[in-house]
Amino acid sequence: MNSHKIPYGRHNITAEDIEEVVKVLKSDFLTQGPNIKLFEEAFASYVGAKYAIAVSNGTAALHLNALALNVKPGDKVITTPITFVASANCIRYCGGEVVFADIDPETYLLDIESVRSILVNDYKKEIKGIIPVNFAGRVVDMESYRELANEFGCWIIEDACHSPGGYFYNKLGEKILSGSGKYADLSIFSFHPVKHIAAGEGGMITTNDENLYNILLNLRTHGIQQEPSKKHENHGLWYYEMQTLGFNYRLTDFQAALGLSQLNRADEGLKRRIKIANRYTKAFSNLSFIKQISGDIEGHAYHLYILQVEKRKELFNYLREKNIFAQVHYIPAHLMPYYKDFGWKLGDMPFAEKYYENCISIPIFPSLLDEEQDFVINTIKQFYADK
Ligand SMILES: Cc1ncc(COP(=O)(O)O)c(C=O)c1O
Repeated sequence: MNSHKIPYGRHNITAEDIEEVVKVLKSDFLTQGPNIKLFEEAFASYVGAKYAIAVSNGTAALHLNALALNVKPGDKVITTPITFVASANCIRYCGGEVVFADIDPETYLLDIESVRSILVNDYKKEIKGIIPVNFAGRVVDMESYRELANEFGCWIIEDACHSPGGYFYNKLGEKILSGSGKYADLSIFSFHPVKHIAAGEGGMITTNDENLYNILLNLRTHGIQQEPSKKHENHGLWYYEMQTLGFNYRLTDFQAALGLSQLNRADEGLKRRIKIANRYTKAFSNLSFIKQISGDIEGHAYHLYILQVEKRKELFNYLREKNIFAQVHYIPAHLMPYYKDFGWKLGDMPFAEKYYENCISIPIFPSLLDEEQDFVINTIKQFYADK
């Protein structure tokens, strides 16, 4: 029996992280200050995008994206049911309608052919956008989505919360980083503690589109803008204008300092995640009780390591008894009571529903020790040996 809890994901805070936060706490800026810009610039460069906008969390990032892309009541947007509900909810915040499309059973990602068939049948042209999610850290082939989106005049938001540092290869064989803005109009990230980069709460939007960048900056702070040209007309230096209805979705400077300090170790953390994933893949290959594993996939950022197993619930409970806190990602979003009220029901997304029946996310985070991982592996094997 392991004496301490092993969670499925965990933040890792170093003495240096603490020092960086304390420096800000002793400074003049608690909310947006110099670390915001530094974090934004460093993050944009990490993912290879032109612009980055730091916001208070990943959900705020999604909400601002939907606003910036002008989602209105009556608009429809396609996303995957195997995601955290925020990927879909941002459309509802703007009064739009969420259209779920099924997943690819091999990759667990939004299935492009399902998306295509919805678009082909959208005779009234109500579908305005697509939100593919780099679920678990596996990066969507965004080039193919771009081609599809262009064919049907849609925008793309890449939900990259699980995949900082992840990538895929395009048709030219170029390595395309998640969040690089090469194909998606906007990408979003979260700095929730279980994610690659922890800031307590926090989010980032990346894009190569200057116009969207400026709209987002404005929306992040109440739609308020300083108007230097007008300061000396009828007003004074205090002058500002609220031009659109925005929000307070700012990140604090101490969160940005933490995020920046964590970003400096992001590659190290990602390498460790890949190593853990490879060890799991090796340990679980060719076992009859494992139906499918995340596998060794180049460019996968391994936010989660997922097994599809027999007797999932019994295994989950057994692991809890042994202090291993596995998790299930995700209950399909279309089966949430809120979305069922819109008419979605069991049977609508057969692959997502089948995936959900057997999936379990086992511990993966950079500070997971080899001994702890061995304990997880042996406990899972023991469970099936006893059955
Ligand atoms: C795929 C995905 N999208 C969006 C979010 C929302 O991010 P946040 O929790 O920072 O609001 C999360 C966070 O859990 C997520 O996993």
